[in-house]
Amino acid sequence: MIGVDFTQAMIDKARLNAEKLEYNNVEFRFGDIEKLPVTAEKADVVISNCVLNLVPDKRKAFSETFRVLKKGGHLSVSDVVLKGELPDTLKQAAEMYAGCVSGAIQIQDYLQIIDDCGFTNIKVQKEKLITIPDEILLSYMNQKELSDFKASGIGIYSITVYAEKSNSASGCGCGCNC
Ligand SMILES: C[S@@+](CC[C@H](N)C(=O)[O-])C[C@H]1O[C@@H](n2cnc3c(N)ncnc32)[C@H](O)[C@@H]1O
Repeated sequence: MIGVDFTQAMIDKARLNAEKLEYNNVEFRFGDIEKLPVTAEKADVVISNCVLNLVPDKRKAFSETFRVLKKGGHLSVSDVVLKGELPDTLKQAAEMYAGCVSGAIQIQDYLQIIDDCGFTNIKVQKEKLITIPDEILLSYMNQKELSDFKASGIGIYSITVYAEKSNSASGCGCGCNC
């Protein structure tokens, strides 16, 4: 297993934990997921928890994921996405409450990027609304607006997405079939 992070403190902590737990089949590399320090077609599976939504160029990150996966491999990522447009003030409140919200994009755009990068059999395996307590929301809106907001379906969701790099995949994952 290869773990990647661009914060040295996180790499140090991961290495320490691996040593403590006597894991000898893991290694941790310093690097950016927009430019993974991993050779092409190396990984059977790519996993990530709440990182891709933080990355400014998600298309680059997913194309890098595609590049490092072996043909027949897959990704399984958990992330935070939006459904509908949250008012800016609410985005700030949500960030305070849930974290990882500021870089979140619309779910259909997120899935489209994965598709554009060449992945197939894309499935949202889990989807959970992140509920912000009414007392927090009421600092940003009145009771009527709160009721309308709740009925609107607009919200922040935690999702788990599965997608495959098919055995017949071609191209580098950048979406331009180069
Ligand atoms: C929300 S934490 C996720 C923590 C971990 N996945 C977990 O489940 O506990 C985000 C982590 O992603 C790292 N990170 C954020 N953007 C990154 C990037 N572009 N490349 C590599 N690591 C990144 C941060 O340094 C941080 O350690």
